[in-house]
Amino acid sequence: MPIDFHDTVNRRTYSGREADASWRAAIVELVDPVGADVVDVGCGGGTYTRAWHDLGAATVTGVDFSEPILAEARASHGDLPGVAFSRGEAAATGLDTGSADVVFERALVHHVPDLATVAAEAARVLRPGGTYLIQDRSPDDVARPGSPDHPRGWLFEVFPRLLDVENARRPTDIAVAQAMASAGFDSFTSTSLWEVRRQYADREVYLAEIGTRTGRSILHELSDAELDRLVDELRQRLPVGPVVEQDRWTLWLAVRGA
Ligand SMILES: C[S@@+](CC[C@H](N)C(=O)[O-])C[C@H]1O[C@@H](n2cnc3c(N)ncnc32)[C@H](O)[C@@H]1O
Repeated sequence: MPIDFHDTVNRRTYSGREADASWRAAIVELVDPVGADVVDVGCGGGTYTRAWHDLGAATVTGVDFSEPILAEARASHGDLPGVAFSRGEAAATGLDTGSADVVFERALVHHVPDLATVAAEAARVLRPGGTYLIQDRSPDDVARPGSPDHPRGWLFEVFPRLLDVENARRPTDIAVAQAMASAGFDSFTSTSLWEVRRQYADREVYLAEIGTRTGRSILHELSDAELDRLVDELRQRLPVGPVVEQDRWTLWLAVRGA
């Protein structure tokens, strides 16, 4: 069953994590965050809302449609200067037209039913010359094999049916390019990123996170018994000791015309 973002049980699933230096380095190669007005749509617990603030953005507005998740974001990051959180739909944020320099959407678009309307909303909110930046996993990113620093890849080795779930929901290059073009964006580019998701002091800390489905909506597709089996399988594959978990992502960028 897909994750229910509105269930208070899941309110902390995207909290308690910091954006890694690998993400920050990739972002500053693509866009100048200093002094920018940034909108972080599908902000979750606000991990990247804070990161844009730390990179020097003038304002960062985190938007999410889940009130319980937004409440956690506010509690963790709401007191940062220039940072605000607002409840809204990705396709209807409620933000002012032409109010942002950057619209950022990380791990959002595989959850939305109609990417074209989400892209059109980004175009509306951006100023002319503003940057639309989507970060998600393409089917090619998802298919990367598992390894000790990419244990997510093993999920699909243990439960191949999860790959069907991913392939049905993950955006392709063509789908993103078409949505951006239909919304009037130009200068379309895409790049790959291996982002360190989190560093764990010990394998068991990582496995405990897997066992609670934290931050990984795909694990909501498994029964509790299947999740227990997954944890056992991952324990067999991971060496004892620290885990540095990396995931392969795609960053799609387009610029709003004048
Ligand atoms: C996988 S989480 C990503 C959170 C955050 N961007 C990150 O990378 O840590 C997806 C987030 O998007 C939100 N979301 C999903 N569909 C949405 C929609 N249609 N409109 C607004 N927010 C949505 C969910 O509530 C959730 O917080």
